[in-house]
Amino acid sequence: MDLRDWLGEAVDSVHRWQSEYPPFETHPSLRISDERFATAFAAFADRMRGNYPYFHPLYAGQMLKPPHPAAVAGYVAAMLVNPNNHALDGGKVTSEMEKEVVGELAGMFGLQTHLGHLTSSGTIANLEALYVARELHPDRGVACSADAHYTHARMCGVLGMPATAVGTDAAGRIDLDALDELLAGGTIGTVVATAGTTGLGAIDPVHDVQAIARRHGVRVHVDAAYGGFFTLLAGANGRAGLDPRPWRAIAHCDSVVVDPHKHGLQPYGCGAVLFADPAVGRFYAHDSPYTYFTSDELHLGEISLECSRAGAAAAALWLTFRLLPPTADGLGQVLAACRSAALDWAELLSASGRLRLYQRPELDIVSYFPITAGPRLSAIDHASGRMLADGMNDAQRPVFVSTLTVSADAMTRRHPSVVADRDGARILRSVLMKPESESYVDDLHARLEELAGR
Ligand SMILES: Cc1ncc(COP(=O)(O)O)c(C=O)c1O
Repeated sequence: MDLRDWLGEAVDSVHRWQSEYPPFETHPSLRISDERFATAFAAFADRMRGNYPYFHPLYAGQMLKPPHPAAVAGYVAAMLVNPNNHALDGGKVTSEMEKEVVGELAGMFGLQTHLGHLTSSGTIANLEALYVARELHPDRGVACSADAHYTHARMCGVLGMPATAVGTDAAGRIDLDALDELLAGGTIGTVVATAGTTGLGAIDPVHDVQAIARRHGVRVHVDAAYGGFFTLLAGANGRAGLDPRPWRAIAHCDSVVVDPHKHGLQPYGCGAVLFADPAVGRFYAHDSPYTYFTSDELHLGEISLECSRAGAAAAALWLTFRLLPPTADGLGQVLAACRSAALDWAELLSASGRLRLYQRPELDIVSYFPITAGPRLSAIDHASGRMLADGMNDAQRPVFVSTLTVSADAMTRRHPSVVADRDGARILRSVLMKPESESYVDDLHARLEELAGR
């Protein structure tokens, strides 16, 4: 699809709808001449050139990529209407779309019943899950792994709940023995299992976490903000297939968060939280004298902590799911290519004389570090930092990766030959979240080897 054509159609479709209402003049205070706009837009476009090229496979740094053109066209068309999914009168059509896509997400995780909604981010989605956790267990805290996203501890602070970090094993997954021991103490009300950690893409064994938690009468929330759509590869044939057990267990947990603005091809402003028990909606009960007046049907604001939310985010996801649904044959194919790219690069790294694989990728995040003359943490840290900067600053042939700070303990458990002459070190990390990375791995690897050899 040619985005230029479809952006035109997005604008035209809205104009056609608008023309069904009586005409009126735009207020003079809002009128801008094309000439003035051209000047401002040229300055704007020039500023935007300063971005890193998130669209290109040579950008293999953070979880960043442009949305699918279908999402852009849907977002623009809906944004021109600018519905607000807080209440049905503000987002009449897009609230319905939101309920439909949330239903599709619930189906993707195999939830038998659900209550859920989109949010403006993964952080807010997790905040909502933690808020419900606190309402259900006001006297108990939250446990998550030391590698869980940093916002869990922060949001627990916002909610006035203690957060306890549980150690990880040598693959970056939550330590089950330590978790069992902690839960036996009776101070924890909810465990957060991460299905795809931000740093390494490690998958906590949700099925084991769930079994332990149930034994202790503790709830389970799954943070699948980044990893959630990989459930489409659970049990799939071929090398991209994933162990289905953690993913299938999500259906039996209490809540789950997934971010369509990460692996769901959406622009930022699209997270989602789903609860297995619709009765938790009671914790959202509130009075709003100026909203909820058009219908007795559920207004999404009645079950979310946020008030205004972009109906355009729901519209973009709805349109995208018509074309690339959250199924193994739809979005699953995109995820499979990303995971294959990570596995391919891991193979190249394993055979490299200049770079070393930090740990085998479970999803599409590859972690690695330069082989230095003396295998000391200080040397690895220095060389990683240099490679990051050299790659980004090379005007002719740039390459973009990211760094991840790992502790001395985490490194030596995986690589006992490394000398821990300091507390931790930066290593290199690449998120291969564009399916096009699959055909670019050789180039990326060659470029990184070159940088390591400098
Ligand atoms: C596992 C996980 N949880 C939560 C978040 C926070 O999501 P957001 O940046 O959308 O607020 C992230 C972001 O990378 C994440 O990877």
